[in-house]
Amino acid sequence: MNSVVLSMPGNERFANALAGAPGCGRGTAVVRHFPDGESHVRIESALAGRHAIIVCTLDRPDEKLVPLLLLAAAARDSGAASVGLVAPYLAYMRQDRRFHAGETISARRFAGWISSGFDWLVTVDPHLHRIATLAEIYTIHTHVVHAAADVARWMMANVRQPLLIGPDEESAQWVSDVAMRSGAPFVMLTKTRRGDREVEVSVPEVERWRSHTPVLVDDIVSTARTMIEAVGHLRRTGLAAPVCIAVHPVFAQNAFAELRAAGVADIISCDTIAHSSNRISLAASVAAGVGEFLASR
Ligand code: R5P
Repeated sequence: MNSVVLSMPGNERFANALAGAPGCGRGTAVVRHFPDGESHVRIESALAGRHAIIVCTLDRPDEKLVPLLLLAAAARDSGAASVGLVAPYLAYMRQDRRFHAGETISARRFAGWISSGFDWLVTVDPHLHRIATLAEIYTIHTHVVHAAADVARWMMANVRQPLLIGPDEESAQWVSDVAMRSGAPFVMLTKTRRGDREVEVSVPEVERWRSHTPVLVDDIVSTARTMIEAVGHLRRTGLAAPVCIAVHPVFAQNAFAELRAAGVADIISCDTIAHSSNRISLAASVAAGVGEFLASR
């Protein structure tokens, strides 16, 4: 066994899938908090001379970062030959520029911290917008696994006559990929964000798609304002209730309930973040992606 997979709490399913790959085995680590709130980590498996793979999805990242970096450090201190991170959801990618004076580009800072602790990173569809590639901000090797094939497969098996809809220009990269793989038609909406929770979406000319089932696809659903606006406009045109698909179901506070109440047919997500809407499992694709990436290095 050349690689040992360690899981941060809550990431056991992905970790187990990875550990099933040839040359990999499952290791154990304790991650807990002292009564004063400080983190304590301890690796229980032998790592000397082996490659450590730590699995940690990075929604709600602030509370995860310190124990994660401590775990990576503990792996190094245990003699690991290398320490990699598998983060199905990669945080801070939307803070990709200095929007106002006095701010920092948080995506870069976060990338610096992760790069300081790990030798490589594998993630799923990071939010690449003003930053074109992870290599612009990460100084370690990175590899991106795409969800489109799994999303397209789920949609073709479960949705009658789908019409793919991207709620904003940024979603074009994901929606067009799903459209290409499924052969379904797609249209894009345009979005103007006026604040954290204030979003306006253009009225689309989609009357000619009346017999189709609208399928809204976005990479991240956080406050769900983008999806809710899009759903509202689609419903006003008289289209059927849409199916909403999120690659990364962040669902901040009451977002999931609010989206449900907006008149959707269903809300489906990939399991990059554990959520009751998870219906599309990416564990096998991520395990395959990690395997290919490690074999190519
Ligand atoms: C950003 O442009 C992304 O692609 C999503 O549209 C955005 O993150 C969704 O955020 P929210 O759910 O808060 O509207």
